[in-house]
Amino acid sequence: MATHSLFLLPGDGIGTEIMVEVEKLIAWTNAEQLTDFSTDTGLAGGSAYDKHQVAITDEDTEKAKAADAVLFGAVGGPKWDDVPYEHRPEAALLRLRKEMAVFANLRPAICYPALADASSLKRELVEGLDILIVRELTGGVYFGEPKTITDLGDGQKRAIDTQVYETYEIDRIARVAFDLARTRNNKVHSADKKNVMKSGVLWDEVVKGVGKDYSDVELHHILADNAAMQLVRNPKQFDVMVTDNLFGDILSDVAAMLTGSLGMLPSASLGAPDPVTGKRKAFYEPVHGSAPDIAGQGIANPIAMIASVAMALRYSFGMIELATKIENAISAVLSDGLRTGDIAQDNRKTVGTEEMGAAILAKLKA
Ligand code: IPM
Ligand code: MG
Repeated sequence: MATHSLFLLPGDGIGTEIMVEVEKLIAWTNAEQLTDFSTDTGLAGGSAYDKHQVAITDEDTEKAKAADAVLFGAVGGPKWDDVPYEHRPEAALLRLRKEMAVFANLRPAICYPALADASSLKRELVEGLDILIVRELTGGVYFGEPKTITDLGDGQKRAIDTQVYETYEIDRIARVAFDLARTRNNKVHSADKKNVMKSGVLWDEVVKGVGKDYSDVELHHILADNAAMQLVRNPKQFDVMVTDNLFGDILSDVAAMLTGSLGMLPSASLGAPDPVTGKRKAFYEPVHGSAPDIAGQGIANPIAMIASVAMALRYSFGMIELATKIENAISAVLSDGLRTGDIAQDNRKTVGTEEMGAAILAKLKA
C-alpha cells in the first residue's frame, strides 16, 4: 500500500490541462522512489454537474476528506452560467472547504526575479517580493446565515449576506499566521474594517490577544482598504498578512498580480491538526481560475498547479527538500527564458502547457 494518498480534482477548463502535468510529475517522483503516492481522481465543478447534476458528489466529497491531500485544479465557465445557484461550479469549492474544515488558506505571493518585469508595478517595487497572505477560509460572509434574497413586493427585493465570526475562528487563524511568521520574518499585519464593522472590532481584539503569546512577533493593525493601497504602493513592507475570508479573497488577488501573473501562484488550505495523528486535512490549488477563454488550447501556465504540489510536499508530507527542488526547477526554467503566454515578455517565443511541464521535469531530473 502506498504511504500517502492524493485525491485529484482537476475540475473544469484549464484545470484538466494543468493537472496532466502534475500527474506526470508524480509518476516521476514515484518511479524515482522520492515519493510513494497513490492517486485517485474525481469530478468537481461543471464537469461534475454535467455528469451528476451537482457540483461535487457525496462520494467524491468523502474521498477528499479521507485523502492525505487534495490537489484541485479550477472550476467554472460560461457553460454553467445558468445552472441552479446551489449547483454552480464554485459550490464544489465551498463545500470542500467547509466539509474538510480547511480554515487556513495560505497564499504566498513570491516574485520570481526573472519575472519582475512582467508585473504591472515597477521592478524595484516587486523584485524579491515574498509575502504570505493567511486568509480565513471557512467563516465570515461566505458562509454566514441568513444568506437570502426576499421578495418585498412592488418590484423590490432585499438581499442579505451575513458577516459573522466567533472568537475561536479568529484565534485559530491568528495562531496559524503567527506561527508562520516565526518561520519567516516575524512580522504580522492583521487587516480588518474595525472602523465600520463589529466583526472587525472582535477580529482585532482577538488577534491582539493572541499576539501576547507571540511577543517575539511584530504585530501591526491595518484597515483592509489601506492594506489594498499599501500592497500596490509598497508591497515589500509586508511579510505575513492575516485577514478574513472576503478581504483575503480580494487582497490575495492584488498580491498575486504584483508577481506578474495569477498563473504563478499556488495556495494551501489547511485544517486543524488531528488530536490523535497530528495530520491536518489539506487542500492545494492554484490561485487562478479555470480560464475558459484559453481552455482546450494547450497554452495554460501549469506553474501555479505544479507549485501547489510543492506546497503539498512541504505542508502535508514534510518533504521540504523535494518541495524546494521543485520550486528551484520552476525558477530555473523561468531564468532560462521559458514563458507561457500569460507571462510572455518582449515578443519572446512562448511555450505551451506541456512544454513548460516537461521543462520543469527536465530540471528536476538534471
Ligand atoms: C478564490 C476564488 C473563490 C473565492 C471563488 C471561485 C468561489 O475567488 O479561491 O479566491 O471567492 O474564494
Ligand atoms: Mg478569489
